[in-house]
Amino acid sequence: MSNYITSIAGPLKGSIKVPGDKSISHRSIMLGSIADGVTRVSGFLEGEDSLATLNAFRDMGVKIERNGSNVTINGVGKHGLKEPIRSLNLGNSGTSIRLMSGLLSAQSFDSELCGDESLSKRPMGRVIEPLRLMGADISGNDSKPPLLIKGGKQLSSIEYTLPVASAQIKSCLLLAGLYSDGKTTIIENGISRDHTERMLKGFGYDVTSSSNTISLMGGGSLKSCDIEVPSDISSAAFFMVAGCISENSSIVLEAVNINPTRTGVIDILRLMGGNIELLNQRLQAGELIADIKVTSSELKGIEIPENLVPLAIDEFPVLFIAASCAKGETVLTGARELRVKESDRIQVMADGLTSLGIDNEVLDDGIRIIGGEFKEQTSSIKSHHDHRISMAFAIASVKSKFNIEIEGVDNVKTSFPNFVELANSIGMKIKEG
Ligand code: S3P
Repeated sequence: MSNYITSIAGPLKGSIKVPGDKSISHRSIMLGSIADGVTRVSGFLEGEDSLATLNAFRDMGVKIERNGSNVTINGVGKHGLKEPIRSLNLGNSGTSIRLMSGLLSAQSFDSELCGDESLSKRPMGRVIEPLRLMGADISGNDSKPPLLIKGGKQLSSIEYTLPVASAQIKSCLLLAGLYSDGKTTIIENGISRDHTERMLKGFGYDVTSSSNTISLMGGGSLKSCDIEVPSDISSAAFFMVAGCISENSSIVLEAVNINPTRTGVIDILRLMGGNIELLNQRLQAGELIADIKVTSSELKGIEIPENLVPLAIDEFPVLFIAASCAKGETVLTGARELRVKESDRIQVMADGLTSLGIDNEVLDDGIRIIGGEFKEQTSSIKSHHDHRISMAFAIASVKSKFNIEIEGVDNVKTSFPNFVELANSIGMKIKEG
């Protein structure tokens, strides 16, 4: 088990490019594999999560070559996947298991999907139930992984209202819908990331979206295409907060995806008084990107608008660090989903903040944080092997007057393998050991 030890850091200066978007990287492998023809991907995230997806499709007979972040996928078409000879191990990755459960429910062969200790505790009923409504034969272990899928089922299309705003459930059902006998319609009760819809269109598949409803017809085919994966706003978010809370600092995060279904972190930081500028906005392979300039800010506590929650769902651990450094109280509600991520991100963050002397109150569906000064009162912070918890507490070091030790940081590799290198290049001081 590795730990981080951070030393007092800042000011932060420089321009950096964080790695490719995790959600888009997963989807590029999945759609490239079932497309006809060769798909070339650049900027692919070389993280354990997206590599788990890549290896799973290799296990199903897809020839995929990778040279660093350049990936070539020799698509096998919608009916060309082969039965894997072993259980598909998706490690820590909820996106892989949930999206693939939809795709594999429609194949002619049986499959088993499993993962690590954290993934094995995550709820899968949310995909099992609607997939069964479509006629899939899928079961879990008390609605948790491993998932067992029996192939050979002709799926029927459904109209389904999502019980929670979740791109993973939506995407799972859209992928199953590609194989269904009619029109699949998903109704969202809150906006969730739309990379699946966008990428399907990029592969020439007709998807219609209007306000909160997304539909596609089963039976079509996907045509290969080239994909340039933009930098991940969820990784950039760590440095957005760092730039805001560190004194005399100014940093630029280059070519970050600012897809409007992902920019809640920018909206929330701006509402808190964060100095964030979006420079050189441009389109890259169907996604809007920008260089994000962040300068030192006087943050103030806010009530986070609930409609921004799904748009910033992965960024709350580091937003809680921002709230800890803000003047006054920040209140988050409507975020129960945080309790079923790689860890219970409300409780685990609350425990870590308490051990840094930050007053907070855990709510059923959120947290109340009273901004203050970090105080040295514990030997180390437990990340519960959650990548985003580890990185969030590393960011606290730019405002801390003492060294912080964070336990169990290995999983940072799942989403942001060069986090320490990039952080240190702009003036942070993190040692991994
Ligand atoms: C993701 C969707 C989100 C997010 C996850 C990636 C995706 O999960 O938390 O990190 O790529 O579709 P939910 O859809 O469960 O909210």
